[in-house]
Amino acid sequence: MYGLVNKAIQDLVCNNFGEDKWIEIKKLSGFEDEGFIGLESYPDALTYAMVKNASIVLGKDASIIMEAFGEYWILYTAKEGYGDMLDLAGDSLTQFLNNLDMLHNRVNNIMPELVAPQFTTRNETSNSIELEYRSKRVGMESMVIGLLRGLGKRFDKECTISHIQVKDEINDCHVFKIDW
Ligand code: HEM
Repeated sequence: MYGLVNKAIQDLVCNNFGEDKWIEIKKLSGFEDEGFIGLESYPDALTYAMVKNASIVLGKDASIIMEAFGEYWILYTAKEGYGDMLDLAGDSLTQFLNNLDMLHNRVNNIMPELVAPQFTTRNETSNSIELEYRSKRVGMESMVIGLLRGLGKRFDKECTISHIQVKDEINDCHVFKIDW
């Protein structure tokens, strides 16, 4: 994954648990460079290792870390130069969710090796929407829950997020329902 993701994990750990914890996580993950370069692509295995080791060092379930990371991503990308892209994606939660693929397509222009997830909305009502999530990766569902929580906050909506369909042999995608 692009270094931007790893940098955000570093930032989240340092801000909430201190630099010492980050140094421990970095060492356990076998990452020896000074820091990450945002626009450079790193192996997915490194990001997965960082989450696993953060879980060990911080004594928290990996799913809790992924969820916190997803929520943080909305704030982190806004402050790291991607605020305009977020603004362009929509003025309301539903509009934004309908534009997630367009948002990643824009990101793809500056990150050519991006392996972006795909999102489709369905069953929209005045106070709920469902989101289909497809990815070439596994185990990122908790991140999606955190992302949706972060987006709810961005649009000042009290959201309840439910994972209503799990990807398996029968269903080709995860589905999340967002109620407000
Ligand atoms: C301007 C804001 C955003 C930027 C710059 C951005 C960029 C990225 C990058 C660099 C990755 C790593 C993938 C790779 O390197 O191959 C990623 C992954 C991901 N993004 Fe975004 N993204 C943004 C907003 C969002 C939002 C709002 C969502 C909300 C649903 C989202 C959902 C995801 C998910 C779930 C992944 C995990 C990868 C996967 O499932 O395969 N992103 N994004």
